[in-house]
Amino acid sequence: MEMNRVPPKRRSWAEPWKVKVVEPLKTTTRDHRRKCMAEAGYNTFLLRSEDVYIDLLTDSGTSAMSDRQWAGMMLGDEAYAGSRNYYHLQEAVQTYYGYRYLVPTHQGRGAEHLLSRILIKPGDSVPGNMYFTTTRLHQELAGGRFVDCITPAAHDPADPSPFKGDFDLDALERLIGEVGAARIPYICVGATVNMAGGQPISMANMRAVRELATRHGIRVFLDATRAVENAYFIQQREPGHVDRSVASILREFCDLSDGCTMSGKKDAMVNIGGWLAMNDAELYQEAANLVVVYEGLHTYGGMAGRDMEAMAQGIVESVDDDHVRARVGQVEYLGQKLIDWGIPIVRPIGGHAVYLDAKAFYPHLPQDEFPAQRLAAELYLDSGVRAMERGIVSAGRDPATGDHHYPRLELVRLTIPRRVYTQAHMDVTAESVAAVHERRHEAKGLAMVFEPKYLRFFQARFESKD
Ligand code: F0G
Repeated sequence: MEMNRVPPKRRSWAEPWKVKVVEPLKTTTRDHRRKCMAEAGYNTFLLRSEDVYIDLLTDSGTSAMSDRQWAGMMLGDEAYAGSRNYYHLQEAVQTYYGYRYLVPTHQGRGAEHLLSRILIKPGDSVPGNMYFTTTRLHQELAGGRFVDCITPAAHDPADPSPFKGDFDLDALERLIGEVGAARIPYICVGATVNMAGGQPISMANMRAVRELATRHGIRVFLDATRAVENAYFIQQREPGHVDRSVASILREFCDLSDGCTMSGKKDAMVNIGGWLAMNDAELYQEAANLVVVYEGLHTYGGMAGRDMEAMAQGIVESVDDDHVRARVGQVEYLGQKLIDWGIPIVRPIGGHAVYLDAKAFYPHLPQDEFPAQRLAAELYLDSGVRAMERGIVSAGRDPATGDHHYPRLELVRLTIPRRVYTQAHMDVTAESVAAVHERRHEAKGLAMVFEPKYLRFFQARFESKD
């Protein structure tokens, strides 16, 4: 007899795009991967991408551009000065992010470099909601000291608080009391917070930071790299925002800051590009002058005209509600699968990535034997999935003492590029993580045998202790 099937109550979402061009992927044997991993010194940054099956190293510069972005590439006005594409980009930044002045840079760290050089004096303190690798380094190279003022919940991977990117406002006030507002050039706000697991900061907390900063006469600069994803989380989680568009939330959020640094390689879905933006005319003059020294003329800053056009179009697409929902939804799909299987990940699930908790995977490995570095290597060996260490190696050394920073979070990041992989790729990834989890008791530590001076995680080499 025919069963009377009831349709499911839950309605699925689907990606708001269809595939027009494909790039073939290669699978490899375990023996081949073992050879590649040894040659790469157990560092996934040192693998050749053709030896990788599913590449979850980063969402930076790895997203798929739309047909409209590719069409924009053909509209590149490759003039040295005053390119039409620069004015398109300026208009997109003014419309969606709301800043008056734009200085393009080759990518995010180019903007961080300019901002740090202009605003930070030796001995200054720069508070932020957890460090980011390149951001902190540029602050330090300018003579500053980064001071972490993120809420304590951010350091606990199991804490389910919805806004683990929030500032601890008391810590911020304490710092101002200790060093004085004059020694704080700006407050550096990350949205979302990458190293905390892609966690958002709430509108309420951002507003409080703004009020506090205004009271003390301190500037607020946003790292807007994934601010669109942050706006989506505000829409979903913060009371009073559910009926608003991501675009309007983004705009209100940015309006609480004085300017931003931006890596266009994430939210804006381009392969290269970034910018520094601000509302202050004097600061703009300084930045527009300094960019000429390090990046290029102030109307291209290291980007080709076609890249600026693709970024202008990417900004428009990035704030589309259906796009962000599907993008974060895919990350959520992978994360939820791992949670259902009892695999330790950072909760809540982040915006651009799922973060495996390597301390919980490998409690038998001390942190200075690099458990997350080992876990990322094991995942590659199992299936050819490439992830990234976000623990003690990424944290680097304290410039004052020379000792390792020992971050409480020892993580491996499975970073999802935008519009690139399908749900089936997420399934394959989850199954590989589960297989590595089953063998977790066998994992051995690593020894670091080569350590570069700056941002060591990119190029450090390791040997296995077995
Ligand atoms: N800020 C954040 C929060 C970032 O995630 C990045 C880059 C930057 C600044 C620097 O931008 O790479 O364009 O110079 N994050 C990449 C990642 C590298 O893999 O998370 P960039």
